[in-house]
Amino acid sequence: MASSLGLPLVVIVAAALACSQCLGQSPTAPGPAPAGPVNLTAILEKAGQYTTFMRLLTSTQVGIQIANQVNTSTEGMTVFAPTDNAFQNLKPGTLNGLSTQEQVQLILYHVLSKFNNFDNFETISNPVRTQATGQDGEAFSLTIVSIGNRQVNVSSGMVTTQLNNALRENFPLAVYQVDKVLLPPALFGAKSPKSSPATSATKPKTGDSKSDQAQSPATHSADTEAPANGVYGFKTMGIGFLAMVGTLTTALLF
Ligand SMILES: *[C@@H]1O[C@H](CO)[C@@H](O)[C@H](O)[C@H]1NC(C)=O
Ligand SMILES: *[C@@H]1O[C@H](CO)[C@@H](O)[C@H](O)[C@H]1NC(C)=O
Ligand SMILES: *[C@@H]1O[C@H](CO)[C@@H](O)[C@H](O)[C@H]1NC(C)=O
Repeated sequence: MASSLGLPLVVIVAAALACSQCLGQSPTAPGPAPAGPVNLTAILEKAGQYTTFMRLLTSTQVGIQIANQVNTSTEGMTVFAPTDNAFQNLKPGTLNGLSTQEQVQLILYHVLSKFNNFDNFETISNPVRTQATGQDGEAFSLTIVSIGNRQVNVSSGMVTTQLNNALRENFPLAVYQVDKVLLPPALFGAKSPKSSPATSATKPKTGDSKSDQAQSPATHSADTEAPANGVYGFKTMGIGFLAMVGTLTTALLF
């Protein structure tokens, strides 16, 4: 009796171990590169809460410029995408107070001509040039400081905000949520007549819950995560079931 049940138990335990090893690798296995051209609009649309930024990408034609550059650049690109909440927290009239050219500069200030994932930010050297340039061609720059554990602070000198949510982090395009519009001092600084929005930039935010909402679309946008989690869930369930069978078998044996 004991020997006839003992063998199946060994088989079950062995199967459970083998199963945990074979399936356990899949969540960390690199997924296939996403097919087709990288589409910033589609990324922002999917993530939600970026309607103002998308509208500005279109009206300033920076969106088209980014699409072309992502396609052709060997260095890739990084985009800091301000949420709708970030734009709402600007002093009223801030955007309308800008000329078309200044709106282009503001949007390009959120774009780097180089791909950066969270690891790259740890070794980036400051100041970091953005794609925005002044009248005489000098680049508007940002200060980017990694404070560890996938947390990075970005500062324009007038506004500091933390990157903690990547909408996309795969070459050639990285897209990060920013909860404040990065205001370039060249447009909004003390020397500029448009200095007033600076005060609103330091105003405490009311919508911190927004960043929580952003977590779930970001998770879904990671192409390989969802199926991996599914497999993992199935694996856990399977092991649980096998463990139960094992316990029952053991109970029967003794
Ligand atoms: C990018 O995605 C948007 C929104 O899904 C779509 O309207 C647009 O046609 C796409 N562009 C390209 C070049 O695929
Ligand atoms: C990017 O490249 C793809 C494939 O090479 C092409 O279909 C697409 O039209 C290009 N998009 C832009 C904006 O150049
Ligand atoms: C990073 O930014 C946050 C606010 O966005 C600020 O509270 C914090 O002090 C900053 N940390 C550093 C090291 O600059």
